[in-house]
Amino acid sequence: MTAAPFLPYGRQSIDDDDIAAVAAVLRSDWLTTGPAVEKFEASLAAAVDAPHAIVCNSGTAALHLAALAIGLGPGDVVLVPSITFMASANAARYVGADVEFVDVDWATGLSLPHHFEAAFARARKGRVRAAIPVHYAGQCAAPEEMAKIAAARDFTVIEDACHALGTRYGVGNETNFVGSARHSAMCAFSFHPVKTIAMGEGGAITTRDGALAERLRRYRSHGIERRAENFEDRAAALAADGSVNPWYHELPDPGFNYRASDINCALATSQLSKLARYAAERRRLGELYERLLAPLAPLIRPLARVSACDPVWHLYVARIDFPALGIDRAAAMTALKKAGVGTQVHYVPVHRQPYYRRLYGQIELPGADAFYDSCLTLPLFVGMNDGDVERVVAALAGLVRQAGRG
Ligand SMILES: Cc1ncc(COP(=O)(O)O)c(C=O)c1O
Repeated sequence: MTAAPFLPYGRQSIDDDDIAAVAAVLRSDWLTTGPAVEKFEASLAAAVDAPHAIVCNSGTAALHLAALAIGLGPGDVVLVPSITFMASANAARYVGADVEFVDVDWATGLSLPHHFEAAFARARKGRVRAAIPVHYAGQCAAPEEMAKIAAARDFTVIEDACHALGTRYGVGNETNFVGSARHSAMCAFSFHPVKTIAMGEGGAITTRDGALAERLRRYRSHGIERRAENFEDRAAALAADGSVNPWYHELPDPGFNYRASDINCALATSQLSKLARYAAERRRLGELYERLLAPLAPLIRPLARVSACDPVWHLYVARIDFPALGIDRAAAMTALKKAGVGTQVHYVPVHRQPYYRRLYGQIELPGADAFYDSCLTLPLFVGMNDGDVERVVAALAGLVRQAGRG
């Protein structure tokens, strides 16, 4: 009998059609800035119901581009949840803006609109120009409420939707896709291999604002301006007959090389074509976990569900009362690993990171701290079967039994 395979907390699912799509690009004339990039942008825009999608080479780059596109800089403050991947906060720092960390709801790991209101009231260091709500694990907390707060307080919302490709939310009778940017200026996505679709490294921003889309495209490629109507130096730009010199381009201000290659985009388009299946699979596995974990409550519980949100789970996070179980998290992770179950912690609160502590001192965010103390990410990926989920839950039940609590 062969041992059951190790279950990582997340991984990509690659089929022959993905490999064929990449191989076709490798045989073509374009490895970068070619048709596969445009095709992925069009497919993504259609998938999330947004008029513009700008693809780039990571979710981090997407957030940085979004910060550049709205001209954030020194003296500006950005509201960022503390329970997130550090890139959400770093994006503000890249442009010299300050971060005001936002507390989270300990039951969902999400910063709710009232947490943003509290952080707005607390922010003292400058003018709050933006907020970056993070759709943790795939759930989103009332984007329409955030839009109202932002309008009232005059700041811009950039959704960090890196976890939430495929997630839908209801507002009244309407259903919106995360990424439609109906309640924000921009949405940032990551297509790192543990995310819902894999691109290798890759990301994108979606927006409904054409002017923002143009700025994002320019900053993605060094800041270079190629549109004749925007040239500043008309003498250099125009030939004697008034036509635009064919080689001419300008640099109004510097950007970065954040372009994604055609190779990565071909993989992403192929993966995106399977989003409906991936989403159904992730939802189904999430429901199975929820059902099987129920008997382990209150020691081990799933994330609380947000109303009016239909998530595609990127991560499957359990909340575990380690003190009541009588086992610390490191020991639990080691025991689960021995049982073939990979786990991870998402996230060490960003406000506790040494860099941010040096910058802003000790900050009290009790929800984020309580969430951090209890969270443990369990395996979830396309290709897991029911037996795998049963194996994970059995390993957790073993911990409960060993602690004499089962
Ligand atoms: C919430 C969040 N924001 C931003 C990022 C950054 O994305 P990437 O790893 O593609 O740079 C990630 C990726 O882990 C993330 O989880």
